[in-house]
Amino acid sequence: MLGNEVEAVQIEKTDTINLDDYDTVGIAYPIHAFNAPELVLKFVKRLQKAKDKKNAYIIKTSGEPLWLNNISSLKLKSLLKKKNLIVKNEYHYCMPYNIIFRHTDKMAYNMWQTAQQLIPIDCKEILDGKEVKLKRFPFGRFLAWIFRIEYWGGRFNGKRYKVNNDCVKCGRCVLICPTNNITMEDGELKFGKNCMMCMRCSFLCHKNAIKIGLFEKWKVNGVYNFNNPNGDEGTHKDYCKKSYIKYFKRSEEKIKNNTIKFESEEVV
Ligand SMILES: Cc1cc2nc3c(=O)[nH]c(=O)nc-3n(C[C@H](O)[C@H](O)[C@H](O)COP(=O)(O)O)c2cc1C
Repeated sequence: MLGNEVEAVQIEKTDTINLDDYDTVGIAYPIHAFNAPELVLKFVKRLQKAKDKKNAYIIKTSGEPLWLNNISSLKLKSLLKKKNLIVKNEYHYCMPYNIIFRHTDKMAYNMWQTAQQLIPIDCKEILDGKEVKLKRFPFGRFLAWIFRIEYWGGRFNGKRYKVNNDCVKCGRCVLICPTNNITMEDGELKFGKNCMMCMRCSFLCHKNAIKIGLFEKWKVNGVYNFNNPNGDEGTHKDYCKKSYIKYFKRSEEKIKNNTIKFESEEVV
């Protein structure tokens, strides 16, 4: 990446890493209930403190670009600080919703395109040592703490997951669950107590056979189509409209004002 070596590790498959082996450390996560998923916090808690202070950055994705989403990294940042990782840059990319309602293909495509164009610019900022902090939200720590009830809610709801008769027992869900919460016992799928509500099992089930308990009606089924994204306004055209407009405008300006050489290609 821009002449630097990057090692990406999947948190769920990594017990720990030696922070002293790296110059800079980044953590990326999807926002869940205005927080980082518990899995991410647990990973950071497991890390051994770095010998010296080093820079860190955070990347987060979420369905909507609300200011309130800025509170999601507060706990994470304080945990990172205890490990001598000082967060200098934070970036937030809008990504198509996987829960609540379905964005239109056009909106989803715009989000994807926007993120693709912003990422090299943001990488360069990190490498150039240009600090980027997100705007603070009043009482953020307290609000984030309340929303962390979702961790408990995930475990409660996870036990209510069920498979229907379309399940062919392929075992894919068992393999991809980040918390190893799904097991196959005597040919039957069992959902344990450690669900983190990522819903990966259900989204990636080829047969759409996994029903996600109380949230089944909110699940966004099927992939977004980027080949020929349609232009209709969808069912929630006014939902957080101002925030989306601001997000795309801000991003457009940043993209317009930056031209970056990225792996021999010019990215504008
Ligand atoms: C359990 C759960 C909680 C979520 N909470 C939020 C939220 O608080 N704010 C938000 O903007 N998006 C929220 N989302 C949407 C995701 O952040 C968004 O769809 C995600 O960033 C897309 O990345 P993914 O497909 O890799 O999960 C939530 C999604 C799930 C599954």
